[in-house]
Amino acid sequence: MKNIGVLVSGRGSNLEAIIKNIENGTLQANLGCVISDNKDARALQITRDHGFKAIWLDPGPKKTWLLPEYEETYVKTLKEHNVDLVCLAGFMRIIKKPLLDAFKGRILNIHPALLPSFPGLEVQQKAIEYGVKFSGCTVHFVSEDVDAGAIVTQAVVPVLDDDTPETLAARILKEEHRIYTEAINIVLSGNYKIDGRRVIRI
Ligand code: GAR
Repeated sequence: MKNIGVLVSGRGSNLEAIIKNIENGTLQANLGCVISDNKDARALQITRDHGFKAIWLDPGPKKTWLLPEYEETYVKTLKEHNVDLVCLAGFMRIIKKPLLDAFKGRILNIHPALLPSFPGLEVQQKAIEYGVKFSGCTVHFVSEDVDAGAIVTQAVVPVLDDDTPETLAARILKEEHRIYTEAINIVLSGNYKIDGRRVIRI
């Protein structure tokens, strides 16, 4: 069985779904380690409560990314835990070269919108303001450009007339918890090929 490493910054509901699915056998993977840039992340406590390895790593002085020497410690830790696939689950930093080079084609992210619509932050608010009738979530490979890598899977939810960013986020989150496991299973199985931007099941 392959090892995943999960990077988190906060609440950790996606991580919790991943752990639950590993425990019930829906997700065919071992959880090598969970790493957070935030000492107080609820995600770290969830990890410990389930008996997995939870690690805080100093993110350094930058707010939205990691300086190379700091990102190197993330790489080193993931390697020490024999991680095959890195899963970003609410990790609120832009991934740079040290991680991208060390885990080429082996980093996934989950985003709460139907990419390429609404990359970045506060995306539920943006979707409501734009007036789209459907939104959803996307699991994609991480590349140098933010929220722009090849798409593994997506799920769609309606945007209702009386939605607030919170109600829409909750509807999307439910789908996130389901499709992240699906996407990780696909990627770990190796039963896919990448044709241009397209991830195709084989
Ligand atoms: C999730 O909705 C995830 O898609 C989003 O942050 C939330 C984390 O929640 N990620 C991004 O916006 C990445 N740009 P969680 O900590 O409960 O999983």
